[in-house]
Amino acid sequence: MKSDIINREDIIQFVNAFYGNMKSDDLVGHVFLEVEQVDFAKHLPKMYDFWEMLLLDGDQYRGAPMQPHLRINQYHPLTPEHFDRWLEMFKATIDSLFEGPKAEEAKTKAFNIASTWSYKLEYLRKM
Ligand code: HEM
Repeated sequence: MKSDIINREDIIQFVNAFYGNMKSDDLVGHVFLEVEQVDFAKHLPKMYDFWEMLLLDGDQYRGAPMQPHLRINQYHPLTPEHFDRWLEMFKATIDSLFEGPKAEEAKTKAFNIASTWSYKLEYLRKM
């Protein structure tokens, strides 16, 4: 039986696994690797802080999480298909590693954020 997400090490584990899978994805991985050429050495620690804030009440995340997506959406649309694929990979990553209430919470929070952002970005494209 798998255990639940209980500490920062667990968060580091699932974030690293998620980006490991994501890099070979033609739709979402393409945005990180080709469109934006993201510096993962800088991006990943932000994501650890972000998920630690959402799941374990961490207070290290400083940022405006939607901002880069707003910027990218202006020249490379981030569509519902991108968000669906992102979520599919996120859920598969969590389920492959963890099980329990925090694991469920991670998937629910990801779904809520992805749904809201997807809707907002689509709305902004139509303005
Ligand atoms: C459509 C799917 C998505 C794509 C293509 C995408 C892509 C990106 C890119 C390119 C960055 C900038 C990385 C950098 O240069 O540091 C970024 C930042 C970020 N993304 Fe996403 N993202 C997606 C969905 C999501 C979702 C659903 C979440 C939350 C559940 C999320 C959370 C974040 C956070 C927290 C940051 C860092 C913001 C900051 O600078 O503080 N992303 N994303």
